[in-house]
Parts: sequence; C-alpha cells; structure tokens
Amino acid sequence: MVFHIPWIYTPVRTILAIWHQLTKTEIPELTRVSVMMRERSRVEDTMYAMQKAGAGSLQVISDFDMTLTKFAHKGKRVPTTHNILNNKLLIDDDSTVKMKELFNTYYPIEIDASLNPEEKLPYMVEWWTKVHDLLIQQRIRKDEMARAVRESNAVLREGCSAFFDCLAEQRVPLLIFSAGVGDILEEVIRQNHVFHPNVHIISNYMDFDHTGVLQAFKGQLIHSYNKRAGALSHGATLRELHGQPNVLLLGDSLGDLSMADGVSTAQNILTVGFLNDQVEERKESFLNSFDIVLLRDETMDVPNAILRFIVSSEISKVHREK
Ligand code: TMP
Ligand code: MG
Repeated sequence: MVFHIPWIYTPVRTILAIWHQLTKTEIPELTRVSVMMRERSRVEDTMYAMQKAGAGSLQVISDFDMTLTKFAHKGKRVPTTHNILNNKLLIDDDSTVKMKELFNTYYPIEIDASLNPEEKLPYMVEWWTKVHDLLIQQRIRKDEMARAVRESNAVLREGCSAFFDCLAEQRVPLLIFSAGVGDILEEVIRQNHVFHPNVHIISNYMDFDHTGVLQAFKGQLIHSYNKRAGALSHGATLRELHGQPNVLLLGDSLGDLSMADGVSTAQNILTVGFLNDQVEERKESFLNSFDIVLLRDETMDVPNAILRFIVSSEISKVHREK
C-alpha cells in the first residue's frame, strides 16, 4: 500500500536499492568473460560464510606449477620446477634432450581429457620416476640451484606477490602442495621475496650427500594424481592448519582437488581451477569439478578479489579500531 503514496515511493525505492547494493556480492572480477561457474549461488553462499567467519578461520591450499606460476609469458611456456632443473648448468646435453622427450611424451597424457585419473596414474609414476632417476644420475649440485632459478624464466602470476603479502599480513596460513621439486619451489618464492613465515610446503624434496650432491629424493613420491595420499600422510603439517576450517583451494589440474583431503575439520571449501591448456576439451570436466574456473587467465586477480572479500570484515575491524 505504501507504494501507492507518491511521496513515500521514491525514498522506499532508494532505501531498497541501497540495501541491495550493500548485500549483493560486489566482486567485479567474477563477472569477467574468462570466469565460469557452474553454480554461482553456491560460490556466493560459500564466500559469505567465509567472510562471516573471517581471516582467522581461513587457510589457503594451493598447487604451485602453472597455478602460482604462469602457464605462459611473452608467448613462451614458463618452466615448471622440474623444467628449471633442465639446465646445462646442472645436467649434460643428452639429459636435457631426454627430459624434453619425457615431457613431450607424458605431459599430453597428464592433461588428456579422454583419460580418467586412474588411467593416468601409472604413466605419471613412470614420468616422475624416470626424471628423478635421471636427475640423480646427473649428480646435481645443491650450490648451483639458486643460479639455475635466477637464470630461468620462472615467473609468478601477475598479482601473486600481493596475494602472498595479504595472506602474511592477515596471518592466513598458505599451504603450497606441489608435485614439483620443493628445493626449487622454495628458491623461486625466496627470489620473489614472498617466502613469508605463514608459508608451508608439501613437495618432493631432494636429499643431498655431505658434499652437496643429489643422491635421492626424500619420502613418498608426489605426482599430479596422488595428492590425496600425500595430504593424508602429511597429517602433522596439516594438523597445524586444523584451526582454520575454511579453505580456499587453487589448482590447475583435477588432481589438485584432493589437496584439502587432509583437512578433517573443513567447513567451507571454495575451489578455483586455472584452465590453462586444452581449454575446450577440458572445460566441462573443470566446470563439474571446480567451483570457479578461470579460462586462460595469467593473473591472480580473481583469487586476490576473493581474498579481499573474505578478509574485508577484518580490514574494516582494523580501521574501526584505529
Ligand atoms: P605441481 O603439482 O606444482 O603443478 O607440479 C607438477 C607439474 O610438473 C605437473 O603439471 C607436471 C610437471 N612436470 C614437468 O613439467 N616436468 C617433469 O619432468 C615432471 C616430472 C613434471
Ligand atoms: Mg600445477
């Protein structure tokens, strides 16, 4: 009835419009054409629940290669941590050719949309085992690795430093869960000045002898499709993160979705998948598996926007207290 009184109609409409502005998700990054969501309402509900719980309840679990690092930069593929080791400084000419051949054989299997993870698994074990054996035979020197990283074209996604810095500032733990090489991964983030105290890493670490020569890889092998087993066996690392029941998960492979399987107390999980390669072929399976899918997006704009949204209540709290 009030709407029939002209002088009251405009103010009520204004109030309703303001209320709508205040309550709807204001994340312009999520409206980009490169962003796809199977169920937008689920994404919004999860983000609101996470925002309500605040930064103190949040942890981020992220893959490394082609998730925190770019897929391509200036028209060239960005090297993964394994491929950074494919350097004449560390291994001989025959081995650099061999490593490239192995990549050309097994990477297409890793991303093949027509094979399921169980079918891919034996090939992944084969790939990682062959490469690790080759690296051990080449007697890689620990003291040459920092130089190999400096000389490589490894590059973090645009906005990645801001992402790391914001997590450190808000004391949100970041678990980097990578089937790459941990020693190289650490060097990449150290050289980018983002190896903050809130960063935890699960990866394949090298074991050097007393002269600094690679003699083995430590612990159970982690490849793209056994991250669930890795998550469960690294319970101790994950126990430190048990106080944070809300998880923002970032990955570029369906295998990355199991990275949060060790978080037994998880309440809300929001998953973001970077779809870098074989985009048309893999779009459907990514959309069925990740909450948000980013198509050929080389930036951290969307994870940064989500993070800002989740911690925004903490930021306004800090401003109110000042
Ligand atoms: P991620 O878990 O951090 O993404 O690291 C695994 C990636 O490393 C996966 O996409 C395959 C890639 N990889 C190489 O690029 N070269 C190699 O020799 C091996 C074994 C893996
Ligand atoms: Mg990856």
